Amino acid sequence: MEQRLIQATQTTEDDDELKLRPTSLKEYIGQEDNKENLSVFISASNARNEALDHVLIYGPPGLGKTTLAHVIANEKKANIKVASGPSIERTGDLAAILSTLEPGDILFIDEIHRLPKVVEEVLYAAMEDYVINVIVGKDSSARSLSIDLPPFTLVGATTRVGDVSAPLRDRFGIIIKLNYYNQNEIEQIVKRTARVFENKIDNDAAIELAKRSRGTPRVANRLFRRVRDFATVHNDGHISAAITKKALDALKVDSLGLDDVDIRYLKGIIERFKGGPVGIESIAAAIGEEQVTLEDVYEPYLLQQGLINRTPRGRIVTEKAYHHLKIPYQNSLF
Ligand code: ADE
Repeated sequence: MEQRLIQATQTTEDDDELKLRPTSLKEYIGQEDNKENLSVFISASNARNEALDHVLIYGPPGLGKTTLAHVIANEKKANIKVASGPSIERTGDLAAILSTLEPGDILFIDEIHRLPKVVEEVLYAAMEDYVINVIVGKDSSARSLSIDLPPFTLVGATTRVGDVSAPLRDRFGIIIKLNYYNQNEIEQIVKRTARVFENKIDNDAAIELAKRSRGTPRVANRLFRRVRDFATVHNDGHISAAITKKALDALKVDSLGLDDVDIRYLKGIIERFKGGPVGIESIAAAIGEEQVTLEDVYEPYLLQQGLINRTPRGRIVTEKAYHHLKIPYQNSLF
C-alpha cells in the first residue's frame, strides 16, 4: 500500500505508536467530557467489584479509539484481548475467543461494524447474559449448546456507527463519541511526543505542527516524525518553527492540514461538477480514490472544517473552500 500521511489503517510505525500511547486517563490528553464520564463509570464498577458495562467507541480514524480501549483495561487492571470485526468470520471463531475470557477481562473488537451477522447474533447473548449459544453437529444430530462465560466487558470500536445494527448498538451501556481535538490539545500531544522521543521542540514549532494535524493525534505523531527527520538532517535535531514549516511544505501539508487527496477532492468537485451537489460515487471515480476512504477518512474533517456540506442531493463545496483554494467563488444559484 502506498504510504500516506493521512490514512485509515495503522502501519509500519506501530512500534513507536505503542511507546506514545498514554496508559491512564490522567495521561490521556483531550476528550475531557468522555474522560470524566468514563472515570465515574470505572470507579463505580470498581467500588461494586463488577465488570464495566460494555463500551462502544466511535469516531473518525486516528483519534485514539484503540488507545482508549487499552486505557480502560489498564484503569480496570484487567487483561485485554484484541480482535477485529472482519477477522471473526464464523461463530466458532467468536466462541474460541470468548471461551478464553477470565472474569473482568476486556474484549476489544475493532471495526465492530464489520462483524458478520451470524457472529453478531451469538454476541447478543454473550453480552447480555454471559452465555454462548452455539449449534454443534449437523442435520438430525444438531444440538444447541450453551456455555457460561465469566462477566467481561466488550469494548467495540468503529468509524461508522451508522453501520452498527440497532440490536448490537443497544447492548452497549456506555457509548463514547470521540471528537476531533482542538489545537491546544494537539499541541500538548506533540510536546508529549517530543518528550518521549527526547527531542527539543520550540513552542511555535509545536503550534505550527498542531495547526496542520487536522485535529488528529495519529496525524500529529506521523507528521512529528517527518519533521524530526528534517530537523535531524538540517538542524542538528532541533525542531524549530522554520524547519517545521519547511518540512510540512515539502510534505505538501497545507495550512489547514489538507493533503493532496483533500485538494484533489475539493478541486475535483469544483472543476468537474461546478462545485456540486454531486454524489460520492462520482467524486471517487473522478479522482481515482476509493469511496470508503473518502467517506471515512477525508470527508469527516472537511465537513468539520466547513469546507464541504452534505445535502440529500450530494456533496457541495462551500465558499470557505473556494477562498482557501484561492478560486473565485461562483454561487451556482446565480
Ligand atoms: N497520543 C495519541 N493520542 C493521545 C492522547 N489523546 N493523549 C496523549 N497522548 C496521545
